[in-house]
Amino acid sequence: MIDYEALRGYVEKIGSRIGFAPKIGIVLGSGLGELADKMQSVYSISYMEIEGFPVSTVEDHVGQYVFGYIEDVPVVCMQGRVHYYEGYTMEEVVLPIRFMGMLGVEQVILTNAAGGISADFDTGDIVLLSDHIATFVPNPLIGYKAVDSADRFPDMTQVYDKGMREVMKSVAKEQNTTVKEGVYIQLTGPSYETPAEIKMAGLLGADIVGMSTACEAIAARHSKMKVCAISYVSNPAAGLGDVPLSHEDVKKQAKKTAGTVAKLIKGYCKAVKEQ
Ligand code: HPA
Repeated sequence: MIDYEALRGYVEKIGSRIGFAPKIGIVLGSGLGELADKMQSVYSISYMEIEGFPVSTVEDHVGQYVFGYIEDVPVVCMQGRVHYYEGYTMEEVVLPIRFMGMLGVEQVILTNAAGGISADFDTGDIVLLSDHIATFVPNPLIGYKAVDSADRFPDMTQVYDKGMREVMKSVAKEQNTTVKEGVYIQLTGPSYETPAEIKMAGLLGADIVGMSTACEAIAARHSKMKVCAISYVSNPAAGLGDVPLSHEDVKKQAKKTAGTVAKLIKGYCKAVKEQ
């Protein structure tokens, strides 16, 4: 059982250390870690220092919160996330997201590298999520002690905030960056999918596939934060490309697009500041 009350002590400790409430929380996917290195940071804390927190076991996933400013907007970046395939429960996987809500974050930007399923999506494309399919992974709210029925059965009609998406699209336009919109399916991994599974996912309406994000979006909505999610297509999904899938290739390609995504996020922060 997760002791949410015990986490309040850490919220207070971090709050008094940084002296501001982060407005935007950014979860950095594969290849995007540098955004946290380059921002104007004032404080960072490793997940390991927070009792009860899941710690990433994936090599080169750092696993820390970095607090600071992007374009003068107070933010917190999650440099490294934990995945369900690492063996944690879904409730544990989304704990760092809930914690951002406890810190006062109002808007969450989730990022990830994903495989392209739909013929409209090519490697290198940037995709704003319009919706997701999370039915193939356990719901992260299972086991959460709800306080009322709205808390127990939260609406998920619009997980990905239309307003945030519109701002993101206008920033992309200003930056001459093409962004698409699509439906993400979260599968557990860690094995990549089979071609038959990808065919199934496509028939179900998924445009892109990955092993994170949807569960985090559910928890963020449950914590009353607005959500925007950005995927960057790192490979054609299984059976649609010429070569077998490898984590190394996914990382290499993700890094190529990450700079453009980082610029988009910076532009978004600037737009929010000017609102
Ligand atoms: N499948 C699942 N997760 C992924 C993929 C993929 O093809 N690419 C990047 N993350």
